[in-house]
Amino acid sequence: DWTPDIFVETTVEELKKKLGEEKVILGLSGGVDSSVAAMLIHRAIGKNLHCIFVDNGLLRKNEFHDVLASYRGMGLNVKGVDAKDKFYKALHGVVDPEAKRKAIGKVFIDVFDEEAHNIEGAKWLGQGTIYPDVIESVSVKGPSATIKSHHNVGGLPDYMKLDVVEPLRTLFKDEVRLVGNTLGIDKNILGRHPFPGPGLAIRILSDITPEKISILQEVDHIFIKGLRDRDLYDEVWQAGAMLLPVQSVGVMGDERTYESVVSLRAVSSVDGMTADWSHLPHDFLSDISNEIINKVKGVNRVVYDISSKPPATIEWE
Ligand code: XMP
Repeated sequence: DWTPDIFVETTVEELKKKLGEEKVILGLSGGVDSSVAAMLIHRAIGKNLHCIFVDNGLLRKNEFHDVLASYRGMGLNVKGVDAKDKFYKALHGVVDPEAKRKAIGKVFIDVFDEEAHNIEGAKWLGQGTIYPDVIESVSVKGPSATIKSHHNVGGLPDYMKLDVVEPLRTLFKDEVRLVGNTLGIDKNILGRHPFPGPGLAIRILSDITPEKISILQEVDHIFIKGLRDRDLYDEVWQAGAMLLPVQSVGVMGDERTYESVVSLRAVSSVDGMTADWSHLPHDFLSDISNEIINKVKGVNRVVYDISSKPPATIEWE
């Protein structure tokens, strides 16, 4: 019978044999899969695992620093790379959702390739691929997927010439979480909602500017913190906020305002393929709406998305 303890024990032994004294490079995304894959490989080869965590400037508020600190706390040899400006530059004026994804994927590869170059003598590329990624031809998760979807574009970046090591290839998501738990990974990382690789870029329904990102980060932070504080976080499968390209009229004191609308989205789902909108308590939604409008400058209206997938997708782009 499969148990996480036996899986960890046998996998670490196999990795030790396979990797010996050789170096592995791995891109961390802050998500469950890449974190668990990293910890398994770390158990086997320690400092010979070189992790790279890229700040694309499209993450949640404080996420880069908090997650980097957790990784370091777990003993991982990880380099945090601030590439915000490169991503913002590539996204400047881009509105089309697929063009945003392409631009982000391309910059990610450039940044990762540059970093990989600095790790001399690396032989392996570690990836957090899990079984559903293997059976789906197009995966949607994390840097590994970004790499895959660009596999056939032009010449391969240098790091793609490395041999791939994917210790989670046979596991389903719930098994990955059990393994992560056995490895002592932070509950905060193991229990987190899925978050799209292109991040907040596909939750801003217009061109991306640092100002819009900062508004959306504040809104998202209030929503997610609210869910945690009210013990609702684990009841929803994924949650977030969209910044709409719409201004609406409001009143503040004696003045009329003309500011942005945000939409909150929370869904229940098993695998993201279908989803129902979460029936969050009305008083909770009311509190969150007030807090957002009072605290976030530039937003004067909050709406709640009550669309199911299909036909509506979880993200708006
Ligand atoms: P949709 O919007 O298609 O989303 O219902 C289903 C799940 O996939 C995530 N998603 C993405 N993840 N890159 C990713 O890594 C992407 O381009 C992307 N688009 C959507 C979405 O957050 C949800 O969990």
